Amino acid sequence: MGVELPSPATTHGRVMAMEPMKSSFVGESPAIQDILNQIDQYSLTDQHLLIRGESGTGKELVAQAIHAGSSRRNGAMISVSCGAIPGDLLEAELFGLYKGGQGRFEIAQGGTLYLDEINEMPLHVQAKLLRALQTRQAEVAGGGRSYEFNVRVIAATSADLEGAVSRREFREDLYHRFSGAVMRIPALRARKSDIPVLTKAFVQRFNALTGHSVSTPDGKVMDALMAYDWPGNVRELENLMERLVIMKNNGGIELEDLPTKVFRKYAEDQSPGAGAVSEWDFPRMMLPQNGLDLKVIVSAFENHLIDQALTRTHGNKNKASELLQMNRTTLVEKLRRRGMITPLKKKEIEGTS
Ligand SMILES: Nc1ncnc2c1ncn2[C@@H]1O[C@H](COP(=O)(O)OP(=O)(O)O)[C@@H](O)[C@H]1O
Ligand SMILES: [Mg+2]
Repeated sequence: MGVELPSPATTHGRVMAMEPMKSSFVGESPAIQDILNQIDQYSLTDQHLLIRGESGTGKELVAQAIHAGSSRRNGAMISVSCGAIPGDLLEAELFGLYKGGQGRFEIAQGGTLYLDEINEMPLHVQAKLLRALQTRQAEVAGGGRSYEFNVRVIAATSADLEGAVSRREFREDLYHRFSGAVMRIPALRARKSDIPVLTKAFVQRFNALTGHSVSTPDGKVMDALMAYDWPGNVRELENLMERLVIMKNNGGIELEDLPTKVFRKYAEDQSPGAGAVSEWDFPRMMLPQNGLDLKVIVSAFENHLIDQALTRTHGNKNKASELLQMNRTTLVEKLRRRGMITPLKKKEIEGTS
């Protein structure tokens, strides 16, 4: 259930070519509608562009959609991850070498060059990029050969570029070079109404890929997905649905199938009163292949919580037993069994502390 796309014949009053990438966008929030509109706008121009947004929000998907909708659609879109290539190699990788091989700028001729994490580009390469953008001439690394280029640059970053500029890690002039055309992709937690449709689309996609028939989560499981903050954004949701579809094979996704961090927020929301915990806060240990000694594990867990209560109350058994909602005598008995109360100490303990 993606976005209702306007019919190709009527958008902007002109006939548009097929835009396969744009149709792969899923979402129904006002934010995603705005993104689709901006994709249309930037497809019409040939401006260099900067896309900003946290990792996993869909920056590269947006760039692909703009490329596919633009007059450069018959050229290539070449991606370069500026952070993944060591600084001294990046210049040759982008601009080519005098004798050895073409750079990505040459390979992308007539198309689009996607520069991911542009903030990671070393300053001298930033200077060279700016010069190339302004002169439409690029010089190979080390010099000796120049070529004209016809490439649209779409840069992307998840970084605080303003901070990088003020720390002199990102050139201010390059920053301003892009300031006329900036797209911001909001984090998934800022457009939670996209979560149900994205979840459904991912479950369907991975069912189709694996031949499984897992049903789309709803009810409490969807509540938990909605409550979570998704620091990894759409990519994190996509990866989780992939794992769940593979794991579940068929049937439904249950609350206990979700990773602890996902249902923790949900459990907190469900708990009556601040600080209350529910069964969902229990550590969830995998049963080892060869089984385990339940008694040993359970008492280790019990001791772990008792020790925390004693630490927090500076050894005060009365307060510790209140924290654990158990009788003081039961607590003392448990400590005695662990040898934590010597007969000598026993007297003091049975006092007030
Ligand atoms: N609105 C969306 N609809 C469908 N899939 C999406 C959407 N946004 C992101 N994705 C998917 O999420 C993953 C991460 O997107 P990507 O463009 O790589 O993010 P970024 O470049 O911001 O890190 C990709 O698999 C992408 O296809
Ligand atoms: Mg990316």
